[in-house]
Amino acid sequence: MSDKNATLTVADRSVSLPLVEGSQGPSCIDISPLYRETGHFTFDPGFAATAACKSAITFIDGDKGVLLYRGYPIEQLAEKSRFLEVAYLLLEGELPSSAEMAKFEDTVTHHTMMHESVKNFLHGFHYDAHPMAMLCAAIASLSAFYHDTVDNEDPAQRKLAAIRLIAKMPTIAAAAYRYSIGWPVRYPRNNLEYVTRFLHMMFEVPSEPLELNPVVAKALDLLFILHADHEQNASTSTVRLVGSTGANPYASIAAGIAALWGPAHGGANEAVLKMLAEIGDAKNVEKAVARAKDKDSGFRLMGFGHRVYKNFDPRARIIREMTHKVLDELGVDDPLLDVALKLEEAALKDDYFVERKLYPNVDFYSGIIYKALRIPTEMFTVMFAIARTAGWIAHWIEQHEMPGGRIGRPRQVYVGATPRDYVALDKR
Ligand code: CMC
Repeated sequence: MSDKNATLTVADRSVSLPLVEGSQGPSCIDISPLYRETGHFTFDPGFAATAACKSAITFIDGDKGVLLYRGYPIEQLAEKSRFLEVAYLLLEGELPSSAEMAKFEDTVTHHTMMHESVKNFLHGFHYDAHPMAMLCAAIASLSAFYHDTVDNEDPAQRKLAAIRLIAKMPTIAAAAYRYSIGWPVRYPRNNLEYVTRFLHMMFEVPSEPLELNPVVAKALDLLFILHADHEQNASTSTVRLVGSTGANPYASIAAGIAALWGPAHGGANEAVLKMLAEIGDAKNVEKAVARAKDKDSGFRLMGFGHRVYKNFDPRARIIREMTHKVLDELGVDDPLLDVALKLEEAALKDDYFVERKLYPNVDFYSGIIYKALRIPTEMFTVMFAIARTAGWIAHWIEQHEMPGGRIGRPRQVYVGATPRDYVALDKR
């Protein structure tokens, strides 16, 4: 809390509101005394100007295109780190020593198996179920299997739940995919590292060993780093809101998965690829841009725009560079990349997009890489969920560690009927 104040005048009443300062970023006006002092609430649909919590995990400067995990620039982590180390960083707040990393990796590796009954649970779905539906339900169901990690007040249980979620998410995700294509579930192989193990669970068939190009694992690891956390986005805020009620970690993360699924959030990567396929050819790009500008069309350019970034999304910059490299190294010639590049070029010089600061976001290029890695389109958002689990659970733990937590309970501007008397059925 700073010693500075803001003064708000409502009609003839002035109220002094304290400013809350973080370590960087704009200061916030603490409006918690507002209703008591003035009888007014604040109105901020979409929480565009509202900080709902204090957090020490991730910092974003949307005007400058800056993203830091625990103070480390995303560019440095993307170049030098790997996903599991980033997961440790998000959870613990510091980069691990070699011994700490080895222990963390060993612990995660030894929690990768899923309970056999979870497999049966997945088999209850119809064969054409979307893998996000299966993932969401299966993760929520974990609270029914792991009763030793649902006491939110116990730090050791919180930590073990975090490990289990990070460890089991790829196993369950791969099982959901294999069920949908009628392949037998592949158990996790503990001699492999996190991302390679996941790729084996996705693609290895019982009849022959999997020849995996190391470029694939490297690219997926980088995508996981870029997706690992992103401050108070819709799914993380959902995890925190559900967590604020005292709900167990599995239920809280399942709620995050549900929120991520929407096309305005993590579902955008799947939507981008569908959009590029619909545009079909670079010569149709101008028409698509015109349609996106027409408010009556209900069509938006998927993979463009961001609530916080009013500059290039730094993750998109990294993925953009990586896309060409991965496609070259894998020898993939994808015509959708030409459509994507033409679309990017057309939007970046169009007044509508320039004025509204609508730049390509992280999801614009990630789908093209996932496609090159042979990840099926309906699994794109599942990839995002695997990576974001590290961030979600770090936020859930932080929320339980920080003093003064309260249940999240927004207010509203009521616009419904004013009081009226009930009318009996025969009189209506
Ligand atoms: N295409 C065309 N117009 C757009 C787009 C777009 N993709 N995004 C925003 N606009 C327009 C919007 O119509 C509005 O115009 P006007 O001022 O004339 O009314 C203006 O830009 C501001 O948009 P907004 O809806 O108020 O912005 P928001 O901050 O509420 O929404 C967003 C952010 C990401 C949901 C939105 O930009 C969008 O729908 N983008 C497409 C979906 C997408 O790519 N989502 C992934 C986001 S990044 C990864 C993640 O978070 O998971």
